[in-house]
Amino acid sequence: MTVTDLLGDEAVDALRAFSVWPATATEEPGGRVLLAGVPLADIADAHGTPVYVLDEAEIRDRARTYRAAFPAPGAEVHYAAKAFLCRGLVRLLDEEGLGLDVCSAGELELAVTAGFPPERILLHGNAKSPADLDTALRLGVGRIVIDGPAEIARIAAAVGPRGRQKVMLRVTPGIGAGGHAKVRTGTDDQKFGLSLRDGHAQHAVARVLDQPRLELTGLHCHLGSQITEVKPYLTALRRLVGLMARVRDAHGVALPELDLGGGHGIAYRPGDPVLDPTALARRLRAALTESCAAAGLPVPRLLVEPGRAVVGPAGVALYRVLAVKTTAGGRTFAAVDGGMSDNPRPALYGVRYAPRLIGRRSTAPAVRTTVAGRHCEAGDLLAEDVALPADLRPGDLLAVPVAGAYHLSMASSYNLVGRPPVVAVRDGAARLLVRRETLADLRARDVGL
Ligand SMILES: Cc1ncc(COP(=O)(O)O)c(C=O)c1O
Repeated sequence: MTVTDLLGDEAVDALRAFSVWPATATEEPGGRVLLAGVPLADIADAHGTPVYVLDEAEIRDRARTYRAAFPAPGAEVHYAAKAFLCRGLVRLLDEEGLGLDVCSAGELELAVTAGFPPERILLHGNAKSPADLDTALRLGVGRIVIDGPAEIARIAAAVGPRGRQKVMLRVTPGIGAGGHAKVRTGTDDQKFGLSLRDGHAQHAVARVLDQPRLELTGLHCHLGSQITEVKPYLTALRRLVGLMARVRDAHGVALPELDLGGGHGIAYRPGDPVLDPTALARRLRAALTESCAAAGLPVPRLLVEPGRAVVGPAGVALYRVLAVKTTAGGRTFAAVDGGMSDNPRPALYGVRYAPRLIGRRSTAPAVRTTVAGRHCEAGDLLAEDVALPADLRPGDLLAVPVAGAYHLSMASSYNLVGRPPVVAVRDGAARLLVRRETLADLRARDVGL
């Protein structure tokens, strides 16, 4: 039985559609798929597979949508570097006027050495290493987000007697939101932040205000990732404004900034729900104005930290099919030359993708196929039970859209398979941004006996 039999023509067409691809994606009559005018098959031939392709126009467009939705000076948009970072992207984000949120000395050094202004960078982390803090202070990072009580004296001591460092305080507002239990960070009983409910957050505010070397600019929270509704953000906003009012009452200080983190949901498959940044901004702005008026507070600057929503939909991962088999149970597997080493998300969070055949047109009916990775784990499956042509064969190219965030940044060299390159496309031209990790790279780290 084919997927068309099961789902109908319309559903199969929807699965094949470009709705979750970058806006520049097109298909020629012969089946060749182009991104920004560049045939994806040419990129696969030139750079090998697996390879990530990033559509520059899509990233710029998304960055501009965010900046228009959260305009300065009343708001700031900080791209979350953990989603993906490389020197080329740093330049592009700088050109688009975004700030940056980093969570390690590595991300910070890369950004600053690529020319990003350190004062537009925010450092996060629930376990900041001495190197993280030293690098942040040495490079003059804009704000450090304090995640726990022990960091207060530690950062103040590291700043030294003549310095003053801007800091924020990460608060857990007691809200469970996000696409998977492993990415929910707004609840009390987890590793990030200071709880609002048990008074730890308020106590920490008092301690930071007591430190002359620290300048508390505001409160921060990050609820989780893949959140597709505005409501949890509104609830968090009201709870944090409530704490700001208590801080004003207790200390006579009106904190000038409020950071609501990132986590804005995107569609991985046609029809998935998404969080529209423009609608989010409009409703946050209204709620902020209203809550602050009710509390008699000046409206603070609003910060957001989207990662996935800026780069995720701009990326496409390309794989070559190496083997196709149908089991005795009737299940069809297409094994490709990548897998959990370049995309651990299906194994980690059960994320579902919509791969498609590129490079040739097939008239064969669609059949339920599981795209398997090449690694030595039965759970290394990139996409389970997706509609792919029945004549799929070794040598074919598969493209997985929405591969721009948390793919390369979470990649490993499991089975000593080098991490894939990143190629940017724009106006009919392709440029290598990150080269492939070679066996020589991997061998060079291994110093032997
Ligand atoms: C503090 C913080 N801000 C922003 C983000 C970005 O989240 P997303 O990429 O889902 O927008 C994260 C993700 O883990 C985070 O921990």
